[in-house]
Amino acid sequence: MRDILKMKGREKIAMITAYDYVSAKLVDAAGVDIILVGDSVGMVVHGYESTLPVTMDVMLLHVSSVARAKPRALVVGDMPFLSYETSTEDAVRNAGALVRAGAEAVKVEGGAEMSDVVKALVRAGIPVMGHIGLNPQRALLIGGYRKRGLREPEREKILEDARELEKAGVFSIVIEYTAADVAEEVTREVSVPTICIGSGPHCDGQVLVLHDVLGLTETPPPFAKVYVDLKSIIVSAVKKYVEEVKSGAFPAREHYFYSTRSS
Ligand code: KIV
Repeated sequence: MRDILKMKGREKIAMITAYDYVSAKLVDAAGVDIILVGDSVGMVVHGYESTLPVTMDVMLLHVSSVARAKPRALVVGDMPFLSYETSTEDAVRNAGALVRAGAEAVKVEGGAEMSDVVKALVRAGIPVMGHIGLNPQRALLIGGYRKRGLREPEREKILEDARELEKAGVFSIVIEYTAADVAEEVTREVSVPTICIGSGPHCDGQVLVLHDVLGLTETPPPFAKVYVDLKSIIVSAVKKYVEEVKSGAFPAREHYFYSTRSS
């Protein structure tokens, strides 16, 4: 945690999502600083239309899978919808379960209204990452996944959210789909690192969803950068396998054995 705090103003923080053992090993080998086991897993892995159906059981399964990779990067587990809003007791119990599953910190969506939750978690010894700007878990309330911070009073609310979260004790803040100048102002104002997604270059770090980066999501958000078309690579590899099974080219002699009786 201290390492992440120390990076502010010195070195940009690279965070990416991973949801299982294999992808955690891969992103860790690539040198990311933070692995986020995001509730985006509900959309990109489980095919839901939003993150709202994601439960604690789902998050526990994915956090424990990532933790078994024993990554060098910090593992942050997302608190899913309704796992922390109901009461501070629920928040501590559910965050504690994520920690017991292997998370080293948790992420909570929301601003000033989540101060009590953040304080309760920090009091319990659980490091917390805040998440302001666009909060996908509040999409029903805010009218979808729209840009944030375009005008007042929303600009000031985002700044106030960041200040309150810092006061409550978060060790970093994700700023999602927010005007770059607002994210820049937040980054200047708070002493903890800001990690942006779709909020411009002035933050202390960036986060993307792994499946967007790899070209595996059908409709990536406009702010995502696709670094490789892994979908085509996978489809053509599996196509080749199907062809070889059909033609009999697979399995070849090195892929099977006979009993001693036939030698
Ligand atoms: O769930 C997630 O992947 C996230 C990132 C988009 C920040 O919260």
